[in-house]
Amino acid sequence: MNCDRKSALVALGGGVVGDLTGFIAATYQRGIPFVQIPTTLLSQVDSSVGGKTAVNHPRGKNMIGAFYQPKLVVIDLDTLHTLPQKEFRAGLAEVVKYGVIADKNLFAFLEGNAKAILLLDSHCLEHIIETSCAIKADVVEKDERESRHRMILNFGHTFGHAIETLTNYTGYLHGEAVAIGMVQAAWLSAETGRCSEDVPQRIEDLLKKFGLPTQPPDVKSQDVIESMYHDKKTERDQLRFILVKDIGSIEIVDDVPETPIKAVLEKAG
Ligand SMILES: NC(=O)c1ccc[n+]([C@@H]2O[C@H](COP(=O)([O-])OP(=O)(O)OC[C@H]3O[C@@H](n4cnc5c(N)ncnc54)[C@H](O)[C@@H]3O)[C@@H](O)[C@H]2O)c1
Ligand SMILES: [Zn+2]
Repeated sequence: MNCDRKSALVALGGGVVGDLTGFIAATYQRGIPFVQIPTTLLSQVDSSVGGKTAVNHPRGKNMIGAFYQPKLVVIDLDTLHTLPQKEFRAGLAEVVKYGVIADKNLFAFLEGNAKAILLLDSHCLEHIIETSCAIKADVVEKDERESRHRMILNFGHTFGHAIETLTNYTGYLHGEAVAIGMVQAAWLSAETGRCSEDVPQRIEDLLKKFGLPTQPPDVKSQDVIESMYHDKKTERDQLRFILVKDIGSIEIVDDVPETPIKAVLEKAG
């Protein structure tokens, strides 16, 4: 197409298109500008913001990629009207995540407006998408390359990734695995004395309102733990978790012992 360094790319689609386009924009002739026009809820609230771009490799998810920011992100709520409901609900899991890690008002708004949100009420959608993007942008501005603070965005993802891996990425959509992972992480937070039991219960109830799964599939707890050790996000032989102290308040814990993790998995199973 005779592109040159002045060419620009436009990513029109979900997170897969956004990640691939971003990666190509980052590497083609050492980088050309690109614009994100995300069309799934997940890509609107998560993958189009923050500058992580990557493609998968047989040896691992997101193995090859770059931190590369788009020049612009354009979100058109109307695109959500053709999105399959299952995909929409999966995106809501990440919105719930933002409430848990940073904004108790967002969480309460989700609890109070679940029905309207599922009916794609445009005022509700605008509010939750705008709030989610603002939270993500704020976290990324503080720590673009994930030296520490950005890790809070991984709430629910330690368990979630293990579930995705153990079901060969075919059992669940990413957001569905994260929903299960958030519930497990919240129960682990209660199990290790960081919060009361109403916190995991509230998270579980909200995810159920959105029709998301909250119980792990039939997998051995030892397999889940092994898989978490192999996750590229774990450092050496420690299991790091993002644990919740209260809705809107989070803690990064570097060395969670296996005993409470097993207890939570076995209770759920
Ligand atoms: N870069 C990041 O920070 C980041 C964060 C989270 C996830 N991701 C990545 O994002 C990807 C998942 O993104 P996703 O959930 O958007 O999935 P996706 O891109 O696979 O889209 C889901 C499905 O919806 C279809 N679709 C997209 N927009 C539609 C619309 N408006 N109407 C009807 N159908 C539509 C797509 O064709 C696809 O079949 C994963 O590859 C994940 O690794 C990246
Ligand atoms: Zn995610």
